[in-house]
Amino acid sequence: LSFNEPFRPQFHFSPPSQWMNDPNGMVYWDGEYHLFYQYYPDSTVWGPMHWGHAISKDLVHWEHLPIALYPDENGWIFSGSAVIDSENTSGLGTKDNPAMVAIFTYHDPIGEKEGRDDFQTQGIAYSTDKGRSWTKYEGNPVLKSPGIKDFRDPKVFWHEDSERWIMSLSVMDKISFYSSPNLLDWKHLSDFNPSWAAYGGVWECPDLFPLTTAEGEEKWILFVSINPGGPQGGSATQYFVGDFDGKTFTSTTQSVKWLDWGADNYAGVTWSNVPESDGRRLFIGWMGNWNYAQVVPTHPWRSAMTIPRSLHLSKEAEDYLVISRPISELKNLRTESLAIEGKTIALDAELLEIELKPNSSQFQLTFTNPGSEELVLKSTGETLILERANSGLVDFEKGFGNEQEANLEGIRINDLTIYLDRSSIEVFVNGGSLVMTSIVFPSAPYDALQLEGFENLNQMHHLKSIWR
Ligand code: FRU
Repeated sequence: LSFNEPFRPQFHFSPPSQWMNDPNGMVYWDGEYHLFYQYYPDSTVWGPMHWGHAISKDLVHWEHLPIALYPDENGWIFSGSAVIDSENTSGLGTKDNPAMVAIFTYHDPIGEKEGRDDFQTQGIAYSTDKGRSWTKYEGNPVLKSPGIKDFRDPKVFWHEDSERWIMSLSVMDKISFYSSPNLLDWKHLSDFNPSWAAYGGVWECPDLFPLTTAEGEEKWILFVSINPGGPQGGSATQYFVGDFDGKTFTSTTQSVKWLDWGADNYAGVTWSNVPESDGRRLFIGWMGNWNYAQVVPTHPWRSAMTIPRSLHLSKEAEDYLVISRPISELKNLRTESLAIEGKTIALDAELLEIELKPNSSQFQLTFTNPGSEELVLKSTGETLILERANSGLVDFEKGFGNEQEANLEGIRINDLTIYLDRSSIEVFVNGGSLVMTSIVFPSAPYDALQLEGFENLNQMHHLKSIWR
């Protein structure tokens, strides 16, 4: 496979062919970052789900591996997580060779068809050969449904203080927490569903993890993806900042927070088992939106992941903010770095990282191509707006060209870092305090950039493809 088809992402992960959605089971083990993903190998639209699989040594270059998990008599394999059972609490490995354990949702299409309400359950599978081969646990499912249709997306971690596994689970419009001594027996702990949260759609793909501010204050972050109900319509990820005592999560802040203001970052969660010597909280999201992901004009695959990001917590006044930064490993893709000066810049590369400093609260940057298509990012001072109405192919769905708008709420934009791939733009404002991720399908590569409201001296880096 050449990975060189029209719109094929050149520095983002995408499957060789067919349909992909959520990232799943991200875990680091023995020099390899594993990325599993929701995969339907028989079509470029969603269908009976499997877990596709890839590995990376640097989170940037990926090696595609065979499908890890296939549907079985319990159902299709929906989203979930993976852990390394170092203490062999499950007995599925040994202490010398711990098992990699995947915890996922079984979606039973037969039960669903029959009109039952208990067709989503949680199952596990394990590998003792670095994720190369997988065995389903014979006692599956390990967590049965209480009779709620939406009962899915288990994200599991080892909680040091209470010395047990904790599972966050999406249960329709709340997150339920469960605990287990051994990954096999699960006990309900508590539910989280504050009245002021975003409930425009079903809650999916939770993640609970600690982050520490620069001042040394530790807080727990809860990610909850919702579909629909995102700020640009369709799917998006909200998050909460609070405390977790091993049983209950309480939110300190009481306003809706979006991890990414763009239309195309969904179902993202973080890697488990990242070495302490690294210490980063590493994230990847699905660069798509359920409103149109199944009709985007790509072939023979559909969907890509965001660039990997490291997550950080900042505190300003009494409010907390999760910051997303492109991982530093991406710098290794730079081939040439150029100063950009003037108002109209010729882009003689397709893959770019651009660093810009506005000198006004109102600015605009416009990517154009010979076909008169344009992709516009502009700030009015109050809002940051991304316009893709005329950015290329847009008419596969009626809302795709809608303006995307982020409220700046008094934020003064000092710097922008932009990653441009063949079919996506990721905008990081003020070091990642505000992010907009969006897919685009220009019929020819953008070959010029117009700048208004910026310093004269900015930087542009040409990037190389991860596939060649
Ligand atoms: C999120 C989601 C999950 C589910 C999976 C099915 O995009 O709907 O809730 O497990 O996709 O593919």
